[in-house]
Amino acid sequence: MHRKATLALLAATIALQSAAWSAEPSSSVAPIILAQDTKGTPDERAAQLVRQMTYAEKVSLLSADADQFSTKPIERLGIPSFRMADGPTGVRNGPNGLTTGCAFPCGSALAATWNPDLATAYGKAVGLEARARGVQFQLGPGVNICRVPVNGRNFEYFGEDPFLAAAITANWTKACSDQGVVPTVKHFAANNQELERDYVDAIIDERVLQEIYLPAFKKAVQAGGTVAIMCSYNRVNGHYASNNNYLQNEVLRGMWGFKGMVMSDWGASHSPDDILKGLDLEMPTGENLNNSRFEQAIAAGKMKDAELRAAVDVSVQRLLRTAAAVGWLDAGWKRRDESLPLDSADSHATALAVAREAIVLLKNADNFLPLDRARVRKIVLLGPNATRVANGAPAPAGGGVEGRRALRGGSSAPNVGGGGSSCVTPFSSHDDDGDYYASIKKLAGDKISVTYLPTTASQLASDSALAGQVAEADAVVVVVGFNRGSETESFDRAFDLPAEHVALIRAASKANPHVLVITNGGAGVGIAPWQENAAAIMHAYYLGQAGGIAVAEALFGDLNPSGRLCSTFDAKWEDNPAFPYYPGTNQNGVPTEPYTEGLFYGYRGYDKSGKAPLYPFGYGLSYTTFELSNFKLDKLGADVTVSFDLKNTGRLAGAQVVQLYVGEQGCPLPRPVRELKGFAKIALKPGESAHRQIILHKDAFAYWSPEKKDWTVDAGKSFSIEAAFSERDIKAKADIDM
Ligand code: BGC
Repeated sequence: MHRKATLALLAATIALQSAAWSAEPSSSVAPIILAQDTKGTPDERAAQLVRQMTYAEKVSLLSADADQFSTKPIERLGIPSFRMADGPTGVRNGPNGLTTGCAFPCGSALAATWNPDLATAYGKAVGLEARARGVQFQLGPGVNICRVPVNGRNFEYFGEDPFLAAAITANWTKACSDQGVVPTVKHFAANNQELERDYVDAIIDERVLQEIYLPAFKKAVQAGGTVAIMCSYNRVNGHYASNNNYLQNEVLRGMWGFKGMVMSDWGASHSPDDILKGLDLEMPTGENLNNSRFEQAIAAGKMKDAELRAAVDVSVQRLLRTAAAVGWLDAGWKRRDESLPLDSADSHATALAVAREAIVLLKNADNFLPLDRARVRKIVLLGPNATRVANGAPAPAGGGVEGRRALRGGSSAPNVGGGGSSCVTPFSSHDDDGDYYASIKKLAGDKISVTYLPTTASQLASDSALAGQVAEADAVVVVVGFNRGSETESFDRAFDLPAEHVALIRAASKANPHVLVITNGGAGVGIAPWQENAAAIMHAYYLGQAGGIAVAEALFGDLNPSGRLCSTFDAKWEDNPAFPYYPGTNQNGVPTEPYTEGLFYGYRGYDKSGKAPLYPFGYGLSYTTFELSNFKLDKLGADVTVSFDLKNTGRLAGAQVVQLYVGEQGCPLPRPVRELKGFAKIALKPGESAHRQIILHKDAFAYWSPEKKDWTVDAGKSFSIEAAFSERDIKAKADIDM
């Protein structure tokens, strides 16, 4: 339907509905129209139900049922309860014990693929896993921006750049929605650190919010068709997110036209008037959106009865409209689609496909990798993350599947999920494929001996037999980094690796120079202090249940790494542009985090200061080489078509990510030197070339004008457009006047 017509109809529906707001329905006289028998558009069907509901019934829909993960049913009207389950890395806590599912790679691993088609596959697979388990609201994806590497939840999110994050979000949410499951995009907004997350006040000016911290949410709504958003715990500019009229009403609904519902993060609501500020559903219990809190607020003069009742109607309408739109109110709708497998081969394939493209090769001195199966005879693995062990427990003697099984006791691996509690999916089958040691052994073949040595650095230094085993190896693989105990929600993590991990890398390299270090972490980790001790370095994020296979394939060259960093890796944490302002100060009892660096965080900050990051945004090596040529710009109206050729000039098949950065010259306001505005991942056989075009639309040149309170493009200004293999590896550049 035409947008204007839709709006007119909505206005009429709301007007009709408001006539009924003042009085309780005379349910004794009118025949009941069940949810399944309501007719019309989702808005009309929702309004029909709202008209028939008592005030108490409406209030009951503003918070969760006793299980704390469902809305309440209203059986009298045929309104079922709707079930939620956590994500984003799969379905964590499905109903009826249907908890285990596929453990997908984490969000930043997905972003590091730079492959929106994989985001589609991921969103679809998660949606189907949810539908198979009877889940209506999948609590993900998480789309906050990586501002600081230490944020405990970076691993759930899509990296530092709003354009990349938005591209991944759009496809993820659309594909999940298409399965009849509502992705609940979180955490709105500016939940960019876990330290003091429940109280911290993020002070961010409007332009920075609009340009950096909100675009992924906007894309979820406008391109992904998202109809549920979860607010964050923190405050933004003085108001809790749950009570933030600017975010929830002005931006989300006013500017973006969002018609869905906002639910709180678990315990993120603080006040009954959240409902006036745009919150619709309080999770997990109704501490604030309940009748007695409403009455108290009215008695205290904090809200008016009529405005409260109007807001309650609107919130209930939003929930029911969402339900009607997805089909949950239709006759014959089944909460759980039993025709779908609980253990899905398609999910496993997607988890593997994402893991394969997420590995970022950071260093590869003298082409140490890939290992040649014909020449390598002995591989030794070291490090706590090489085998799957229960939450940070020491690796079992000898490692291996049996030892792990004995230890596992229901928890997942460091390299499987990353992070703890709400974010990690327990896994079912294929669990051994997430294990680096088991997978390397599997792929090595009979002629190569693969051993895991569960040793510490000091044991290695003092035990000559152990040191001898390491020294004899053709390759030593040291797997280190964070895990679900050390990188998770509710606290921020360290930047540097644990001292013991660094000591182990050094001890290994002392015994043998052929060291590959694999790091696990949701974003940047301290690498500079030991970089020289490694011949090769791979950053493996948290690759999910199939991550071991992907890593083993990359080790032997069955797979050519094509992941590119989705956030800048600092040489040291102190170099990070946001470091001086983190973790903020205490202002009258409120932890306050000023985003003083503004737009100049991440690579934008490095470009401004001229400092060098250790590994730039968009960086990643390959086992082959690429050449970009015939770079050309064509202007057609407000659009610019960028065309180029890419050739694989090496001897192996591989993929390169061509990144387009735009920068404005002479903007009246400060702007970053370059910002990502387009990209294409291109797979090529050796010697093969491809011609590609990427269209940059008007919004690629726009910035947020605080004066106009809108996006603007400076007419007559010159813009540089760069094609690059990373933010610091510019291959071609040309200017164009707008
Ligand atoms: C997390 C959310 C999660 C919720 C429910 C909260 O602690 O911040 O991301 O969806 O718990 O488990």
